[in-house]
Amino acid sequence: MAKKTLNVGMLGCGFMGRTHSNAYGQVNHFFNTPYQPVLKACYGREEDMPALKKFQEMWGYESIETDWKKLIERKDIDIVDVVAPNFLHKDMVLAAAKAGKIIVCEKPLAMNYAEAEEMASIVDKAGVKNMVSFNYRRVPAVSLFKQIVDEGRVGKPFHYRATYLQDYTISEKVPSGGAALWRLSAKIAGSGVTGDLLAHSIDTAEWINGPIAKVCAYTEIFIKERQNTDTGQMEKITIDDACMFLAVFKNGSIGTFESSRYARGRKNYSSMEINGEHGAVYFNLEEPEYIEFFRYADPDSGKKIEDHLTGWQKILVTNSEHPYMKNYWVPGTTIGYEHTFINGLADFLFSLDGGAKFEPDMRTAARTQKVCDAIIQSANEAKWIEISE
Ligand SMILES: NC(=O)c1ccc[n+]([C@@H]2O[C@H](COP(=O)([O-])OP(=O)(O)OC[C@H]3O[C@@H](n4cnc5c(N)ncnc54)[C@H](O)[C@@H]3O)[C@@H](O)[C@H]2O)c1
Repeated sequence: MAKKTLNVGMLGCGFMGRTHSNAYGQVNHFFNTPYQPVLKACYGREEDMPALKKFQEMWGYESIETDWKKLIERKDIDIVDVVAPNFLHKDMVLAAAKAGKIIVCEKPLAMNYAEAEEMASIVDKAGVKNMVSFNYRRVPAVSLFKQIVDEGRVGKPFHYRATYLQDYTISEKVPSGGAALWRLSAKIAGSGVTGDLLAHSIDTAEWINGPIAKVCAYTEIFIKERQNTDTGQMEKITIDDACMFLAVFKNGSIGTFESSRYARGRKNYSSMEINGEHGAVYFNLEEPEYIEFFRYADPDSGKKIEDHLTGWQKILVTNSEHPYMKNYWVPGTTIGYEHTFINGLADFLFSLDGGAKFEPDMRTAARTQKVCDAIIQSANEAKWIEISE
């Protein structure tokens, strides 16, 4: 049957512009979705024209725009995909909702919870379908992590442990502002590692282990001033370079979270572990095709099955019975980072045609932003902060 066309307007042409464009191009090679995305138009600033033109050419967009408002208003655009820096998300999403477009938005949803809540409410009221790109849920091993927990194989959880570590800002010569390093400017990024990295860890933690009830955080800024690429001036750095927080989950388990861009040797080390009465699960994004599982007790009887072979099992998540993997190659052959965006887009496109509701949407992402705000508040006030559901 002929697929329905969905014309894509991409608001940004950087790192995420590439991962999302790739997903639109690849999705129907692996998933037979009801829609055929068409890369209709991409946006970049006038001053980024060479990059915009190159982006258009490499990904095959039919046209370019240097005014994002104009792109959103175009009648021939069905999906608005927000892959611009964080401070632009709210205005872009609200304009897209007003124009009745389907919306894809990168994380963190907004600069803070107040903005995120407003966005979720307006999008709900407009009734437009939307997704937020917390793509790590769609690593097959992370989906399997959740499946193992949902099947009761971990039992009553006691501990949840997450890290998200990188090391690219250790040199004081790394500037703030400009391409990619806008992440170091509070007025563009909102927060530092909390919104950029821990938002991912919080999204997966609450998805797997339920709501966080309270947090106690400490943040650090190791390099207090950097030269701003856009102005050439030294700029005071106010975003959190590193953040650690303790969490108490509503289900009674307790958690530790750590994130930094100063963890020498770590490039994109996002790990998570849960330890429960019946078992434990561990995942680390630097070995994304594996998951580790420790089986202690039978989930149904609760009886101990530990014997002389008990130990951590390292499972290669490439079999057809593993999440998403039947859509790819033969068992034993791996997929990669870009496939998390393809998997998410496939789920979203099926949801548009009456399939299972897509998660996370803006309502869920606003909740994650609420936790991020509580973390920053806790660090600023040096006290525990309770988080309502
Ligand atoms: N899901 C993930 O794992 C993931 C990974 C990286 C980034 N992100 C998110 O994606 C979004 C974009 O990040 P990125 O890494 O693609 O950034 P990037 O710097 O690579 O690209 C940003 C794009 O926005 C444009 N831009 C920059 N400053 C602008 C301004 N002031 N006005 C208008 N346009 C501007 C740039 O020209 C570029 O096209 C951010 O919200 C970020 O948090 C998510």
